[in-house]
Order: sequence, then C-alpha cells, then structure tokens
Amino acid sequence: MSEVKKERILKISILRFDPTDPKDFPHIVTYEVEEADGMTLFIALNEIREHHDNSLMFDFVCRAGICGSCSMLVNGQPKLACRVLTSKLDANISLAPLPLFKLIRDLSIYTGEWMRGLSERVESWIHDKEEELAFDKLEQRMEPALADEIYELDRCVECGCCVAGCGTIQMKPNFLGAVGLNKVARYHLDPRDKRSDEEYYEIVGDEDGVFGCMTLLGCEDVCPKDLPLQSKIAYLRRMMIQTAAKN
Ligand code: SF4
Ligand code: F3S
Ligand code: FES
Repeated sequence: MSEVKKERILKISILRFDPTDPKDFPHIVTYEVEEADGMTLFIALNEIREHHDNSLMFDFVCRAGICGSCSMLVNGQPKLACRVLTSKLDANISLAPLPLFKLIRDLSIYTGEWMRGLSERVESWIHDKEEELAFDKLEQRMEPALADEIYELDRCVECGCCVAGCGTIQMKPNFLGAVGLNKVARYHLDPRDKRSDEEYYEIVGDEDGVFGCMTLLGCEDVCPKDLPLQSKIAYLRRMMIQTAAKN
C-alpha cells in the first residue's frame, strides 16, 4: 500500500530590510506556505510574493543552478535557493541575505560589483602576446584531460556562497577567497595564458592571496557546483613555494 504523504505548512521566516528607507530596520517576518510536491525555495518564495506580500524582494533568473543569482542563507547555510527542495528541510525555515555583499533589499544582494572587482584584481582573462592573438593563427591542441580540468573550474557561477562560508574573509576583507583563488588556478593551468609564475606570485603570493587561506574548508562544503576548491588552493600554494624557492 502506498504511503499517504502528509501536507505540511511551512513557516518561512525571512530577514527583511530596505537599506534605502531611513525608517526601516532589519526585522524578521514569518509567512505560512502550504508545501507542494517538488517545491523548491524558489517556488515557495514566489508563493509568498503572489499571495502574502508582493513587496518581498529576492533574485532568480535561471531557476536551474546556473546563473548564481539566488544565493542566500538557508537555515544559516549559504545555498542556491532554486536548488533547495523544501522536502529536505524542517517545516520551520529561516532565510537571510548572504553577508558581505551589498544588500539591495530583503534577500536581494549585489554580487556583481564584488565579483567584477575580483576579476579585475586577478586579471581573469587569457594573457597572450599580441602577435599570438592574430585571427588567422590556429589554436593549439590541448590535452583533453587538461581541458576537462579547466572546464571544471569554469563551472563557477560566481554565486558568492564560498565567500559567505569563509571565516577568513570576515576577518580580512581583502582576502581573495576561494572564488578568486579558483580563478587564478584556472588561468595558471591554461597553456594559452602566457603569464610567468613570477607574475602570478605578484597577484596571489601573499596574505591576501593563497597564504591567507587558513584551510577552514567552509568554501568547499558550501559550493553548490562542487568545485575542487581545496585541491586548487593546494596547487597554487605549491606553485608559489616553488616560485619563491627559484628566486
Ligand atoms: Fe559559488 Fe562555488 Fe563559484 Fe564560490 S566557487 S562562487 S561557491 S560556484
Ligand atoms: Fe576560506 Fe576556504 Fe580557505 S573557507 S580559509 S578559502 S579553505
Ligand atoms: Fe539561477 Fe538559482 S536562479 S542559480
């Protein structure tokens, strides 16, 4: 006999605040939502906005874990809300915006400015010599295993979960964090990038870079794309130590 599934009433408590309204202050509002089969937090939040409070602000674009815009604290843990099934959670759920990023309102944050600053800081693009950028030049063959390794790191969706999950950034705001170190490792691995190890050392060989990481491991625990962040931080550390020993 098939089991009859009990419908649950979810109590979703949301930390709400509009920093542009001088009269507002951070406060928690709890909404009750009837759970449906296959419900994600994206669906639950839309239910709240449609049936309870249309002023609630949150971000979603792809609903498929690809755009990285729906990151938030779910019961205190950084997650992509569109990938969280309510059935995996207790009926009492707390939601808050990711810390460290600019708050727009309620659950909506602005990660773009932070991520852009990071990309500019580590120059996360292929650095090649001008003569080698000629349009008629054939691309060099890359070993499939190396291409896969680079592709794996390119899956980062810049959601900011690893930043919110890293205790070091809370203490050292200039620390690159796992997302920044991942970008550096990605370009260092890429044979099309012609920067020397010494140039990479300038970018990442200090306490705001790879030597600032205290191996707290929160980044890898919360990365929704399961990127191998730890092994790439270790890879960069080895590279930095070898470079320092050469000079
Ligand atoms: Fe998000 Fe993972 Fe990229 Fe960090 S490394 S920004 S957690 S996808
Ligand atoms: Fe932070 Fe991850 Fe290092 S959590 S301290 S970047 S291992
Ligand atoms: Fe795009 Fe969640 S809506 S990752």
